[in-house]
Amino acid sequence: MAIRIDGKAVAEKVRAKVAIEVEELKKQGVTPGLAVVIVGDDPASRTYVNNKKKACAQVGIYSEEYALPASTSQDELMELVAKLNAKKDIHGILVQSPLPNGLDEKAVVEAIHPEKDVDAFHPSNVGRIMIGNYHFLPCTPAGVIELLRSENIEIAGKNCVVIGRSNIVGKPMAMLLLHNNGTVTICHSKTKNLKEVCRNADILVAAVGKPKFVTADMVKPGAAVIDVGMDRDENGKLCGDVDYENVEKVASYITPVPGGVGPMTIAMLLQNTVTAAKSQNGLK
Ligand code: GUN
Repeated sequence: MAIRIDGKAVAEKVRAKVAIEVEELKKQGVTPGLAVVIVGDDPASRTYVNNKKKACAQVGIYSEEYALPASTSQDELMELVAKLNAKKDIHGILVQSPLPNGLDEKAVVEAIHPEKDVDAFHPSNVGRIMIGNYHFLPCTPAGVIELLRSENIEIAGKNCVVIGRSNIVGKPMAMLLLHNNGTVTICHSKTKNLKEVCRNADILVAAVGKPKFVTADMVKPGAAVIDVGMDRDENGKLCGDVDYENVEKVASYITPVPGGVGPMTIAMLLQNTVTAAKSQNGLK
């Protein structure tokens, strides 16, 4: 039976460390500040944004919410980003995705000052990640690496398979595993022999967005299986991309949904906000 990696507990440790850093910064006259922008009324986005604000408050980070109606124009959104770029008490800017139809998300992300881009979605930050010289790591992939570290799971020399090639998770995840000297394969909808490729993985990261997509026969006995999915099963219950009940019998480590990667994403966002506040104030 696999060891269940407790993302809530690991995230709590990261948050405790961040809270100490925030306290130190405040002594030096700097309060880290995060602006969270939400456009429209997508219920999942609302929940994420509420959780992010709550997490900020818990560690002493100042946060501002900008909730805009779905009818907001591109120009209005770009103006807000420009205003936040110039705001001295705001060190991190996060525009919750997805944006309502008709708004150009790429243009919005590119308008965020790279040093305030705590999601690490700006092309300049993506490029920095590629060459391993970065301000920030993208929150979810960075959270996955922390989870592996928390259990001393070796990445160097291991076969790492990432299912999914999104810009937010799959691609940066593969890059971080590579920076940690993993031998990395990215799988996607056109991959041939997906099952065989996955069965070769010592570390399998599922970021497909399909409920219980990874079944036990796709998992190498003893593998570490990390589930980035946030899906709904046939009964509408929250589940991940991994068929947890069956995969836990084969894997050596597994992350649950909820309570695995999810809490880590927010913890890493807090960490990035502190990093941003430090660098914008010439502190280390
Ligand atoms: N929507 C879902 N996940 C994320 C995230 O990590 N950042 C932003 N900005 N939007 C998201």
